[in-house]
Amino acid sequence: MALTLPNVPYLNSGIPGLLTPHAVQIHVTKHHQGYITAANNLLKGSPFAGKSVEEIIKAADGPIFNNVAQHFNHSFYWECLTEQKKGISEAVESVLTKTFGSIKDFKDQFLQKASTVFGSGWVYLSKDPSGGLVIKQYANALNPIKEGGIPLLTVDAWEHNWYIDYENRKAEFFERFFDHVNWSFVELKFKAAGLI
Ligand SMILES: [Fe+2]
Repeated sequence: MALTLPNVPYLNSGIPGLLTPHAVQIHVTKHHQGYITAANNLLKGSPFAGKSVEEIIKAADGPIFNNVAQHFNHSFYWECLTEQKKGISEAVESVLTKTFGSIKDFKDQFLQKASTVFGSGWVYLSKDPSGGLVIKQYANALNPIKEGGIPLLTVDAWEHNWYIDYENRKAEFFERFFDHVNWSFVELKFKAAGLI
């Protein structure tokens, strides 16, 4: 089955205080759609046709991996953001505090990693294969699934994510990011990963 864009609830509204409608629309309908179109063309007639996105990410490399992984990364990222401000749930806060010392320490570490990705990539909070929580940088299209981890929260550290609204002021985008995280989605991921 061909890959398609997910529903992005704030496609037309943008995320007030973080991203304008124009920036969201270009990112979703041009960048993300571009990866989907390329992936569908590459998958046609390949040994990966009909496989799940996760199976392809684990087994493929080269252009098929890059485009399918970018489809996953973006779909996951859209879910991590919300136009409605939501507070962090107590259950998630307690797990993060146990691992990172405090929510402030967790946010500081996540943003430090996000703002220092050199070139293009992603930062993920994930459950690593040994069961621990880790914040890691991933170059280009890579993500935790490739190494057997479970993604819990991500931010797009490609320049196209902020350049339309913030130009070279990358730090400003990341300073605002945590005010717009969809903690309900993150909580679902924590539950599915058996963390709460
Ligand atoms: Fe992106």
